[in-house]
Amino acid sequence: MPELVLVLKKDDIEKMVASVAHRISSDYKDRELVLIGVLKGAFVFLSDLARHLTIPVKIDFVNASSYGSDTTSSGEIHLSREIDIDVKDKDVLIVEDIVDTGLTLTYLIDYLKSLNPRSVKVCALIDKHERRKTKCNLDYSCHEVDKGFLVGYGLDYSEDYRHLPDIYHLKL
Ligand code: IMP
Ligand code: MG
Repeated sequence: MPELVLVLKKDDIEKMVASVAHRISSDYKDRELVLIGVLKGAFVFLSDLARHLTIPVKIDFVNASSYGSDTTSSGEIHLSREIDIDVKDKDVLIVEDIVDTGLTLTYLIDYLKSLNPRSVKVCALIDKHERRKTKCNLDYSCHEVDKGFLVGYGLDYSEDYRHLPDIYHLKL
């Protein structure tokens, strides 16, 4: 049986999300902000983040995946859902659950920049830096870890554990 070791409790996650939402609300005051959630993992984070914002935003999603049922990146990104909001001249904030190699994010930044927005920035719940392969700047991040495979609060392993309110280190 895989072992789940607690990393972040629900209450701590909520404080982090509220604090990052406060910064975003102040940085994007009087702007036209579009949040782009990266499915599926970011759905819980985005829904909590959006409800803590005090500015109006539009919301859309992309579906990008690089992981099969393994815990290491295949390196190949597949975009199975593009956005349908027009982001031309708008401020775009990518909302991602966790950044590992950075390959998914680099791909998404290039894709969104090709749609001529005013700006593209990134908000990640977790910055997992040990295996970073690309230079990508996380403008907002809630928590940093070196390594390990995390599940819960939207993050999955082979589609399991997304529903858990806390975040755990999965030991296979
Ligand atoms: P990257 O392209 O290697 O940065 O991987 C980013 C994507 O892989 C994220 O959007 C996650 O969906 C998934 N991922 C990376 N690390 C983890 C993890 O520890 N738990 C669950 N999903 C992960
Ligand atoms: Mg993801």
